[in-house]
Amino acid sequence: MYCYRKVMDDLYWVGANDRRLAMFEGVYSVPDGVSYNSYLLLDEKTVLCDTVDAAVGTVFFENVEKVLDGRHLDYVIVHHMEPDHSATLEELIRRYPDVRILCNSKTKTLMKQFFTFDVEDRVQLVKEGDVFSAGRHELTFVNAPMVHWPEVMMTYDKTSGTLFSADAFGTFGALNGALFADEVDFMRDYLDEARRYYSNIVGKYGTQVTAALKKASGLDIKYLCPLHGFVWRKNIGDYIDKYQHWAAYKPEETGVVIAYASVYHHTENAAECLAVRLREKGIKTVMFDTSVTPPSEIISAVFKYSHLVLASTTYNAGIFVQMEAFLYDLVEHNIQNRTVVVIENGSWAPTSGKLMRELLGKCKNLNVLNETLTIKSALKEDQLSQLDVVADAIDATIPKKTDVTKADEKGEGVDAGAPVLDPKAMFKLSYGLFVLTAKDGEKDNGCIVNTVIQVTEKPNRIQVAVNRNGCTHDMIKKTGVFNVSVLAQDATFDLFRQFGFQSGKSADKFADFADYSRSANGLTYVTRGTNALISAKVVQEVEFETHTVFIAEVTECRVLSDVPSVTYEYYFAHIKPKPQPVEEKKVGWVCRICGYVYEGEVLPPDFICPICKHPASDFEKLQ
Ligand code: FEO
Repeated sequence: MYCYRKVMDDLYWVGANDRRLAMFEGVYSVPDGVSYNSYLLLDEKTVLCDTVDAAVGTVFFENVEKVLDGRHLDYVIVHHMEPDHSATLEELIRRYPDVRILCNSKTKTLMKQFFTFDVEDRVQLVKEGDVFSAGRHELTFVNAPMVHWPEVMMTYDKTSGTLFSADAFGTFGALNGALFADEVDFMRDYLDEARRYYSNIVGKYGTQVTAALKKASGLDIKYLCPLHGFVWRKNIGDYIDKYQHWAAYKPEETGVVIAYASVYHHTENAAECLAVRLREKGIKTVMFDTSVTPPSEIISAVFKYSHLVLASTTYNAGIFVQMEAFLYDLVEHNIQNRTVVVIENGSWAPTSGKLMRELLGKCKNLNVLNETLTIKSALKEDQLSQLDVVADAIDATIPKKTDVTKADEKGEGVDAGAPVLDPKAMFKLSYGLFVLTAKDGEKDNGCIVNTVIQVTEKPNRIQVAVNRNGCTHDMIKKTGVFNVSVLAQDATFDLFRQFGFQSGKSADKFADFADYSRSANGLTYVTRGTNALISAKVVQEVEFETHTVFIAEVTECRVLSDVPSVTYEYYFAHIKPKPQPVEEKKVGWVCRICGYVYEGEVLPPDFICPICKHPASDFEKLQ
């Protein structure tokens, strides 16, 4: 029997739920089931947005037929070719032989790979920005590559303000009768599954999700219709905010995920002892046994919290199997911006700590603390002080009330895991080059500066000289806060061009620039070709003819990489392109017979070629 719901007057949800699926994509358990959403628009033309997984085809086709109520199906838009949304496309065509397919060229390629029907004959290609009129509704197409496959696109219905967002904004979990997120307590009951869905399905593609969010931010979205989970029509901004955190790999909460791998409970015991010490300091902890909890759940927790402790026994001279599987998965998901501590155990040759550190080295922007703990078989009384040191080191990276910035107070743009205050970041300062960033309202800007100096250590203060003609200068004057991204030797010239060769007064330097994140103060910092971030709050200004020197208190400092800083000298020697030597133009005459060149403006009329003995008449002037 059909089972559909109305989204609005002329738009219907015609999807279905599956509660029997054990493993989504064969990998992720879905104990609460999953929904496959499809939407049918009844305008002058009838337009179906995607189909469903083969497992729920029966009720889906009943829904489509019932909602069409005898009308033809004119179009189906294929936003995503993954079979959980397209497996029933061929059957749809059999049932509605006149239906046309609206999709992009990448989708068409995949469609030919998956199906045997005549795709060419059926498809009407669309591209980003194209407008399709269904009658009253005007649909625009928005590419969203790698959210979650390369062909993914979204459709924005300008008439109703509906964004058909493909996998983005989806969640695990069947709908259980509700269709709208506001019919349930989403943040209490479904957010964890939404995070697990996001982090595992598209978590690897934060940059691409950020790009899609940027496009979406220009749309007036009244309805959000994803391919899994609930339709959003209220408080959409709350959910988008979660996505912004996840896509930027920013923690939602300060807290420590302790993931351990233990054969005979001794490593587990050390993890427990650390958890107790952290709790006694008022730090939130969650614990996972990697042998029991699937990686997808631990990955989801890591996306939520600011800190991660990895405790593993050594096994076959390596990392314990389940911990290794989890870690590979985590690294593959591109985790960033976390503070990490490693604990290793080994009865005769503990190596898991070193190996875990090596794996973590593949991730960007991880603050892996030096403080560690090596256990030989079992934790002993005399090692408890080492555990205290580890707990203290974690505690030192937890933001305290006194570190709270204005942005924290306002609750805007706050990275819950920051500010980190790692004094090692200050060692990155040299007579080098830096990207100085600031923000005024919604506008971000940045410029290249070459004078950032630590003035005093206690209190930790720096000074920066900024050209008074610049946009960044004016922003700092107005807001009193800035970030310094210390440029490293792996910086490429395009970074200097991006921030140094154009004016923020006429260009939006962050419009097409993806390699940035936001620190706790809400300001941008550059994440590529940089080795440290320093956030600061101005306490004093001194004006010179051309520059203002801002003296500022450091509110956050973080090491981003181990690549040495760029010095001014290094920049000129290795990064700035060398001017191409201008080949000196020879003035002279060339022998047409043998190629001998006579250098000189005037060729004597009686000249004889010394090579081939031909006369001056066989020479011609060099061009
Ligand atoms: Fe729900 Fe990427 O498929």
